[in-house]
Amino acid sequence: MKLWDAKFKKELDKEAEVFTSSLSVDKKLADYDILGSVAHVKMLAKCKIIKGKEAKKIVSGLKEIGRELEKGKFLFKDDEDIHTAIERSLTERIGPLGEKLHTGRSRNDQIALDERLYTKDEIKKIVSQITEFQRAILRAAKRYQNVIMPGYTHLQHSQPVLFSHWLLAYLEMLERDKQRFNESYVRVDVSPLGAAAGAGTSLPIDRKFTAKILGFTRVAENSIDAVSDRDFLLETASASSILMMHLSRLSEEIILWNSEEFGFLEIDESFATGSSLMPQKKNPDIPELIRGKTAKVYGGLFALFSLMKNLPLSYNRDMQEDKKGFFEMMEIVSSCLSISTKFLPKIRLDKERMKEMAEKGETTATDLVEYLAMKGVPFRKAHRVVGKILGYLEDSRKTLKELTLTELKRFSDKFEKDALERIKVESSVRSKTSFGGTSPKQVQARIRDWEKRLA
Ligand code: ARG
Repeated sequence: MKLWDAKFKKELDKEAEVFTSSLSVDKKLADYDILGSVAHVKMLAKCKIIKGKEAKKIVSGLKEIGRELEKGKFLFKDDEDIHTAIERSLTERIGPLGEKLHTGRSRNDQIALDERLYTKDEIKKIVSQITEFQRAILRAAKRYQNVIMPGYTHLQHSQPVLFSHWLLAYLEMLERDKQRFNESYVRVDVSPLGAAAGAGTSLPIDRKFTAKILGFTRVAENSIDAVSDRDFLLETASASSILMMHLSRLSEEIILWNSEEFGFLEIDESFATGSSLMPQKKNPDIPELIRGKTAKVYGGLFALFSLMKNLPLSYNRDMQEDKKGFFEMMEIVSSCLSISTKFLPKIRLDKERMKEMAEKGETTATDLVEYLAMKGVPFRKAHRVVGKILGYLEDSRKTLKELTLTELKRFSDKFEKDALERIKVESSVRSKTSFGGTSPKQVQARIRDWEKRLA
């Protein structure tokens, strides 16, 4: 017997039964389903739709199911979904009274409710995991505060920067990620319960009451929208995708920098794997897998977009397919944040190599341009002057570092002895004192700000 087959003359085909079942996936929502049912039943009693005594019995039956589920002792049968499994088991336990549970409710508002409760918890977890990761990044930034490395544009050396400044760039990205999750949370935090199948109900229910005891800030104001809306999944999935894009970029840089060619850092052995063939190998599998798993999260986001784009209002069974990918997405995000928090603090830098490379490619040429600009030379002209110097260096197979003041003066009489000082990477970094720039003073101030914000 099904919840819905009273008018059916034929039994559901076995294969169709398996095909339509979502139990293997929505099992995961069991706790939320029980939470929602308990709130619903309490409301039914409060509104005198069922008796107080009846509600008590139903609630204690539901709680017993909850305990069994927790211990893994709950007996699933060939139930269509988690809602059916719980209701079936409740009726087996407490008799026909169990059949009152679904009064004034549909599985359409029930599943929307379960998914919202789940998503709220996931967002809270992810936000706190992001904060943990930010703290780990901040500690690393402090530890390596004055390490100089080449900055890049187009993956070409641009100007020297502090490694700590580079780390803080990721801290900023993660902060925006956190904001995005928190802002989406506001729209997840809306109760659909009581929208029933989509039209509302003739029973005198109190939607605000259930919303309140379930911890929702708002109640969905349109019953059709309440059961049709999956924006909250899309928003969370898109915040997740952007977060993963950041983790993936970070991973990519670590993979590159760990290579023989860059040699900026070394990954700790406890977070690397070897090769079954080449005994010398130590591979950066953790960041590689983060990069790889990012693809799955994007796939999940696009699956949701494609799922929803043609659906007429209100509920359609297609929507059952929203869960698997979304759950997987949440697991990926959480595990990637967790492993990153452990992995990143363990990398070891080769500070000498980083500094040596920061000097390669005449990365302080712009410092000379700015030197001239400060002496009143129009920027465009200063740029040309330094361009000429670089051309001269190329012809004479020399580097900026080897320039003498006499040579400099041949290109502009504005150059004084202190210009030679500006060519050093340390002074280059020190001079970037504009707000948010890479000077040690600026970076230290940002580190202090972050320490307060993340305390
Ligand atoms: N298993 C369904 C889902 O995940 C629950 C809602 C079913 N509603 C329905 N009218 N068949 O979407």
